[in-house]
Amino acid sequence: MSKPKVFIAMKGVPEVAINLLRKRFEVEICESIQSTKEEMLKKIPGFFGIFCCPSIMINEEVMKAAGPSLKVIGTMSVGYDHVNLPVMKTNGIRLGYTPDVLTETVAETTVGLLISTTRRFFEANHAVKTGGWKNWTPTWMCGKGIKNSVVGIIGCGNIGTSIAKKLVTFEISQLLYTSRSEKPAVKALGGKLVTVDELVEKSDFIILAIALNEDTKFIINGERLAKMKSHAILVNIGRGGLIDQDELIKALQEKRIGGAGLDVMTPEPLPLDNPLMKMDNVVLLPHIGSASIETRIEMALITANNIIAVLDNKPMPNEVHC
Ligand code: DGY
Repeated sequence: MSKPKVFIAMKGVPEVAINLLRKRFEVEICESIQSTKEEMLKKIPGFFGIFCCPSIMINEEVMKAAGPSLKVIGTMSVGYDHVNLPVMKTNGIRLGYTPDVLTETVAETTVGLLISTTRRFFEANHAVKTGGWKNWTPTWMCGKGIKNSVVGIIGCGNIGTSIAKKLVTFEISQLLYTSRSEKPAVKALGGKLVTVDELVEKSDFIILAIALNEDTKFIINGERLAKMKSHAILVNIGRGGLIDQDELIKALQEKRIGGAGLDVMTPEPLPLDNPLMKMDNVVLLPHIGSASIETRIEMALITANNIIAVLDNKPMPNEVHC
């Protein structure tokens, strides 16, 4: 009897996870670095599972193209805003994701992004490599330090809490956070639960660590950007859609805020002619929050095991229940 089929919609998935899937499935991997919509629509009719990541839209068209054989989507990510949940649910398709395993790695990236933005590491590095470094000059390449500052974290789930734990060791003056309810672990660090508006007004550093959904889309809009301190640094490691990017560009161009460190943006990859590309006070990373080798291997294995669990009609190691 032929094995059920799984389509891996991107290249570069660690071999160990592909081999695990091959024991139970016929595995097909997309042709280019990432499957185009056209390729997916052509390939997936009759497939049991899709192995994907946040840049691959799993919408109604894709799920309908796969047809009734499609039983599982495994996304190699903690975020799943790229999957149409109502259509998935209506069609009895299950969704696996990879929370927890990436928490520390994403928190590490966030701290690195925050420091490199406020302390101008990339600008300074560029100057060194292009002959802009003339001397040790007292105020050249200075940025705002983290010590004694107010740090605000929007969304204090596991990742936000881990960021908070790391940043309190920098001797900050106050930790503010937003969440649906008070978080004892963040309270124990001295964190104060506030509204988004209070947080943006009072923070020197504002970190977005919240999932993207209908309620959080453009949580940072023009109005909230206008409330920020003129030296505030905005860091986003959630999703590009959390920020009204056109408004952010205006605020940066008009020097109404200090800078931005973005691991996520709209669209991804960001076109080379986007104004953000030319700004010295903006650090852009290519969505590498969880990109440590160990974490990515674990994420791939969990994704494979999530898919296998559905074949075995068992609970997934990590399932999105919606
Ligand atoms: C996730 O897991 O959702 C991240 O954005 C990927 O690094």
